[in-house]
Amino acid sequence: MSEKAIEMQDNQEEVIQEIDLSAVDEICAKYSGKKGAVIPVLQQVQEHYGYLSREMIERIGENLNVSPHQLYGVLTFYAQFYTTPRGKYVIRVCRGTACHVKGSGRISEVVKEEFGIGNGETSSDLKFTLEEVSCIGACGMAPVIMINDKTYGNLTPENARAIFREYANKEE
Ligand code: FES
Repeated sequence: MSEKAIEMQDNQEEVIQEIDLSAVDEICAKYSGKKGAVIPVLQQVQEHYGYLSREMIERIGENLNVSPHQLYGVLTFYAQFYTTPRGKYVIRVCRGTACHVKGSGRISEVVKEEFGIGNGETSSDLKFTLEEVSCIGACGMAPVIMINDKTYGNLTPENARAIFREYANKEE
């Protein structure tokens, strides 16, 4: 086997996971020559892929003629951008005081039991991400979670588990 072939075999996993970046080019083309393109391009690329990988950031840089260093500066400044893959369903468990007192820690544990993920982690099937957040303004229904943009309150470990399983069983 040639050296190249061995190298390819070693990188097989990487190759399989290689992402088609043509959407990055298409999005950048819409903004070609326009001022203030960086943020809308980053937003749209993230919307398309769900996150911004190193390869995507480099490609955006090439297209817009902006250094990756500058792009990373923008990414770290705005909390809306993610550089690692996120789940299709983002479970936000409120860890504000009211929810904490009413047992939100136990709800996070149920997420861990069901999907094996802790705070900030994404399940390997890319279906769920867990984020522990501060008060989301629904303290009257504590403990509260959000799954994407839906809010669920007055949770117990049991009904939270039932909700999580419903999402886990949803068709793609
Ligand atoms: S503390 Fe959880 S919603 Fe306010």
